[in-house]
Amino acid sequence: MPQKLAAGNWKMNGQAADLAEIEALLPAVQAARCEVLICPPATLIDRMRRAAGSAPLAIGGQDCHAAKSGAHTGDISAAMLKDAGASHVILGHSERRQDHGETNASVRTKASAAIAEGLVAVVCVGETLAEREANRTLDVVGGQLSGSVPDGISAEMLVIAYEPVWAIGTGLTPTLDQIGEVHDALRAALAGRFGAEAGSAIRLLYGGSVKPDNAVEIFGVSNVDGALVGGASLKAKDFGAIIAALGTAG
Ligand code: 13P
Repeated sequence: MPQKLAAGNWKMNGQAADLAEIEALLPAVQAARCEVLICPPATLIDRMRRAAGSAPLAIGGQDCHAAKSGAHTGDISAAMLKDAGASHVILGHSERRQDHGETNASVRTKASAAIAEGLVAVVCVGETLAEREANRTLDVVGGQLSGSVPDGISAEMLVIAYEPVWAIGTGLTPTLDQIGEVHDALRAALAGRFGAEAGSAIRLLYGGSVKPDNAVEIFGVSNVDGALVGGASLKAKDFGAIIAALGTAG
């Protein structure tokens, strides 16, 4: 069984004053019976790393460029994230697929670059509401998985986050059966591609409106190894409760 992972995605939120939330979160991090990761905006990576002190809090980026350096105004490389103190990077989040036209192919290239730098790639997949209603969820998510994940990965360098687009920031969540169906399919696809051992060791996170009051039931679903949390990761009280819920899950 892989170590469970509670991951927070701060998205485009957070300035220096918000580091108080990290200080408030540290007791929950120290007591956690799972890994804890927060991906703040790149401007806060270094300061969040310092605020975490010796607590076992991993810090991640939210995107990286595929190149190591060069003429790419506004972009950040995997090496730069690592240099700033990151150990993980979220790639292919639906907001980047929508806002920045990221494709499976570009996400795959970025994931290769991140892994080559020694970062854990947290690759996101998820269907839109129209795709779910057209009964295409497993096809869409399966296609994103096979297209966005590079070959030759080792299990500890990859995390997959299933985030239905329609559940992000809406307060809506799939049923537990729907989450289980997708996670089982992702697990089977990973095992088919990378072998049973690696396939079962890659963490599968659920993301989309995870809150303290639904975390316990979501963490009870088979093949859910943790969560990628947006809004509820911004407040220490809520994210601390989610970390605690994951620590007590099966
Ligand atoms: P919310 O938890 O705010 O729905 O966001 C989920 C998400 O997109 C995490 O990456």
